[in-house]
Amino acid sequence: MTEGIGSARAPANIALVKYWGKRDERLNLPEAGSLSVTLEGLEAHTTVRFGPSHPRDQLILDGHALPEVGMRRAVRILDRVREVAGVPHYALVQSTNSFPTAAGLASSAAGMAALALAASRAAGWDPSAEEASVLARLGSGSACRSIHGGFVEWIAGSREDGVDSHAVGVASPEHWPLEATVVLISEGEKPVSSTRGMAETAASSPYHAAWIGAVRHDLPVARAAVLARDFDALSAVAEGSCLAMHATMMAARPALCYWKPGTLQTLDAVARLRAEGRRMFFTIDAGPNVKVFAPPGDPDGALGALEALLPDKKTLRTRTGPGGSCVDETVSD
Ligand code: DP6
Repeated sequence: MTEGIGSARAPANIALVKYWGKRDERLNLPEAGSLSVTLEGLEAHTTVRFGPSHPRDQLILDGHALPEVGMRRAVRILDRVREVAGVPHYALVQSTNSFPTAAGLASSAAGMAALALAASRAAGWDPSAEEASVLARLGSGSACRSIHGGFVEWIAGSREDGVDSHAVGVASPEHWPLEATVVLISEGEKPVSSTRGMAETAASSPYHAAWIGAVRHDLPVARAAVLARDFDALSAVAEGSCLAMHATMMAARPALCYWKPGTLQTLDAVARLRAEGRRMFFTIDAGPNVKVFAPPGDPDGALGALEALLPDKKTLRTRTGPGGSCVDETVSD
């Protein structure tokens, strides 16, 4: 092979039952499973070019070259693809995000899933969805869920090599097209990465074991709620999982708190609107932003009412969306 090129797009996903704890840091193997919803329109678009003219792996994200330390995750994926497909070349990777990077909007999940799909295509390898999910996981754990659309479960697996730790589709986007708004509290980089936050929580939080137990309990409850389209049941389990994850990290020593005053202001607004009978639920990842979901078509006008209560906050509308895929258009600078 002289040159190989491949492009892909992949969406962000938001966990409703969260991943926060690894049993293997190198392979991003989780202590427990997790369940997410894939989000429409919040995407990474990535083009990979393998070839003899590249003196090293290089990643250009939104027009800026990433320093070598920022490339480690990407290189794990590129190395694995080179190994499987027998490609002897370095790669030039160009990627753009349609949403703020590293603001708790799962940008690394979208980016690593798009990279996994684009790099395999560029190497002439056509992985199964399972293999693509395992590959994306090497870059960032939650990325394994962005391969699929709709509602997605990451099966924790038990093997040491991680080949059984991948995502599977639970239900398609059409099964239950939930509406959502992302309330942007801060668009800056988060101060503590998920990787570090998880390690510190597992090492020092007195609640860590209880948290992992709660995830194992919540997973089948959330899966059943999705399959039955039971919004109230999903609301209870998703908010419970989110708050339990943040509680366990707040109890770590030193404490880890991603929330800002605007985070609580948004939770308060959700509580007020719900008290008026509008159906909605919130979730928060490793950042201050709040994602709020409403049933299909948002019959109570919950999201508009929330946005009206928070006039100084930027919001992004989205809904249950499709998974990642290879595309023909290429990304260039
Ligand atoms: C709070 O997948 O970003 O969003 O595997 O270290 O890259 P690494 O972590 P990452 O963690 C995501 C944490 C979370 C919860 C979730 O998405 O399940």
